[in-house]
Amino acid sequence: MAEAAKLSVEGKDLEFPVLKGTIGPDVVDIGKLYSQSGLFTFDPSFTSTASCKSTITYIDGDAGILLYRGYPIEQLAMQGDFIETCYLLYYGELPTPTQRKKFQYDITHHTMIHEQMVLFFRGFRRDAHPMAIMVAMVGALSAFYHDSTDIADPRQREVASHRMIAKLPTIAAMTYKYHIGQPFVYPRNDLSYAANFLHMCFSVPCEEYKVNEVLARAMDRIFTLHADHEQNASTSTVRLAGSSGANPFACIAAGIACLWGPAHGGANEAALKMLEEIGTVDNIPAFIEKVKDKTSKIKLMGFGHRVYKNYDPRAKILQASAHEVFEALGVKDDPLLDVARELERVALSDPYFIERKLYPNVDFYSGIILRAMGFPTSMFTVLFALARTVGWISQWKEMIEDPGQKIGRPRQLYVGPTQRDYVKMESRA
Ligand code: SDX
Repeated sequence: MAEAAKLSVEGKDLEFPVLKGTIGPDVVDIGKLYSQSGLFTFDPSFTSTASCKSTITYIDGDAGILLYRGYPIEQLAMQGDFIETCYLLYYGELPTPTQRKKFQYDITHHTMIHEQMVLFFRGFRRDAHPMAIMVAMVGALSAFYHDSTDIADPRQREVASHRMIAKLPTIAAMTYKYHIGQPFVYPRNDLSYAANFLHMCFSVPCEEYKVNEVLARAMDRIFTLHADHEQNASTSTVRLAGSSGANPFACIAAGIACLWGPAHGGANEAALKMLEEIGTVDNIPAFIEKVKDKTSKIKLMGFGHRVYKNYDPRAKILQASAHEVFEALGVKDDPLLDVARELERVALSDPYFIERKLYPNVDFYSGIILRAMGFPTSMFTVLFALARTVGWISQWKEMIEDPGQKIGRPRQLYVGPTQRDYVKMESRA
């Protein structure tokens, strides 16, 4: 690839440096385009725009490859666990046994939230969408943890990051308990991250709760699969919010709000609702026809991806994980899984989907597993946000620590009215 990209503007030849990464597409640095040409670039949904340099996650959408700090997601999901994935994403390397022990201790001892925050829940309706509560509660963390909001202090940044990784499961579990009218369950320091989350969600004061280790393993793997994903919409939201110097709790709350959208993290809830609407395998052909009819505005939720034009590697692992969960739960086979598998088979053999390179993404199978584990659909994106918090905070840290970091401030193509004078009320028609 040439070292520079040439652009001719009104007879003026301009050159822009081409920057090379370790893997993946090179980029043209157009930082000086406006000052040299008076032109902006125009790429509203950032289909051809790199917003930053990053060393955290790499996706090859054509090959269906996902690497966290260079490690394939399949290896981390099957051989590692979420706590060490958190360490890897945040610090850049797999932890040594001593590092892992210390990190696990630090996270475990930040899992409680300030007792005053419990009162906030009382203000919500019981039937509030759990994501609405999550946005509020995570944003409110900055009202309690002032001693870790000075983003210029590396130690405060680290403490705020540990607090978020540790407290999101507690807040998510409390959100679930509030939604179903059961008492909150405090975290336990003797349980692993995923087991503790299941315990906080499903134990009740009236009886002993034994965590099903297979479910804890499946939960842990789901967290690992959702932990980070390059510069997706919610991560870009966190980075842009962080670029203004906003405190990390507020930035993560902004990421949660963005993730909620059905085109993004809200797709797991929408995908399960779609499978329930289809109901049986016989209804699939009619549904597929509706999706192919653009006027219906119906999308195959859990399918398609801006980057993956091949099978999302996370979806493959989740499909396999579904069996493990059903077996552990003694569920024969969920009819929705049959509908999902047949829907996938039909879609992947239909030219409409093949031409558009539409494959199942991470949201297609996750909902079936979470439903089998006992979570209501409204909690699915909450679990996505819980897992993605480590990715968001790692990307936020990378942005803050970038010596060249400046506030993000895009420009626009203005197509509104040219200057005109004010019209007094009496002169208006
Ligand atoms: C996540 O970015 C990330 O990394 C996100 C994520 C992460 O981990 O952070 O991976 C998590 O958000 C996964 C995606 C979850 N969303 C869904 O499952 C919702 C359904 N999918 C679509 O909304 C869509 O596929 C997107 C939003 C995911 C991607 O949309 P793009 O890149 O803008 O693609 P597009 O809309 O340009 O699609 C190209 C064509 C279009 O048809 P034509 O105009 O060419 O005729 O494919 C069609 C689209 O209409 N299309 C679909 C479709 N997705 C795209 N048609 C039917 N069903 C779909 N799901």
